[in-house]
Amino acid sequence: EKGGYAHYMLKEIFEQPDSIWNTIRGRMDSDRGNSVLSGLNVQPRDLAELHRVLLIGCGTSLNAGLVGEYAIEDFAGIPAEVEQAAEFRYRNPIVGSKDLVLAISQSGETADTLAAVREAVDKGALVAGLVNVVGSTIARETGRGIYLHAGPEISVASTKAFTSQVSCLLMIALKFARAARMSRERGVRFVKEIEAIPDQVREVLKQNDHIAEIAENYIKAESAFYIGRGYMYPVALEGALKIKEISYIHAEAFHAAELKHGSIALLTEELPIIALVPDGPGKDKTLSNVAECRARGSKVLLVATEGDDEVNDYGDDIIRIPAAPLHAAVIPATVALQLFAYHVARLRGCPIDQPRNLAKSVTVE
Ligand code: M6R
Repeated sequence: EKGGYAHYMLKEIFEQPDSIWNTIRGRMDSDRGNSVLSGLNVQPRDLAELHRVLLIGCGTSLNAGLVGEYAIEDFAGIPAEVEQAAEFRYRNPIVGSKDLVLAISQSGETADTLAAVREAVDKGALVAGLVNVVGSTIARETGRGIYLHAGPEISVASTKAFTSQVSCLLMIALKFARAARMSRERGVRFVKEIEAIPDQVREVLKQNDHIAEIAENYIKAESAFYIGRGYMYPVALEGALKIKEISYIHAEAFHAAELKHGSIALLTEELPIIALVPDGPGKDKTLSNVAECRARGSKVLLVATEGDDEVNDYGDDIIRIPAAPLHAAVIPATVALQLFAYHVARLRGCPIDQPRNLAKSVTVE
């Protein structure tokens, strides 16, 4: 049932060109430069009234929410905020009928996310689910939303759910942007940018053997730092979460600018840096942060754009992703880090599909 793969996680990583396609298929209107998200049931007229979008979730789904926050603000110009679902419930949030709450959950059963959904419903907000499991509690209680259609995710470490969640959030950003100031022409390009993602993921998957070789240089680490800026900051968070979960290496993700505000004190030759530096805004700044780390002897793994030779002198190892605008590059960059985490864990002899202390769905608070 693992389709010839050694682990479900690897199978699910490799399924992503198809699972992402299944998420976007039939939901893009290339002619109108828009997305068609009927289950969301939000009309352009409702959007004009909207004050804010709140994205809630836990773990990987929370990291996806952060990408959604950036994309919705970036393209649609609607204030957006991401919040850990448990925090949302317990801090008596200010939320009401002019707010759209997007509850993000692979399983649709996560207790904290469900409790937040109920709180948002009680406060009169518009609540929609971004859920993978059809008929799950969150899908039912939100009543509106978008199914991911990523197919069953068995591995405890979430992979294809994240890339489908991000694909959905980009489609939402497009829809909201088109109801505001985004032109049809820009919308048409945006659709193309999303549709290009499955092939970009294929390009990353082709480097599986190369990534496995690179992974060997990192298996002795006790701790690792992941850094990125802008759209690459959630990717850093997700990369660090993956490696913690399955390889048991302590990892932390930082906004690249934050490192120098304290944590840089921890750097030694034993602590590698994984830096997200695809070509685009923020790259040069992150590279300067990388240079500061290298000056302290840290080994550096870069995730960079194919053909971008400017980065060559900054990293000991480099994983290349195809050229893409950063909101789309989130997905191939994450896939690169999924494979990296997988191989590090495999080489360390870890039980990849069933990491210690973890269950697939967290139905207790
Ligand atoms: O099913 P959900 O998306 O609501 O689950 C949320 C988290 O428990 C989940 O993403 C968890 O962080 C994963 N094990 C991460 O790989």
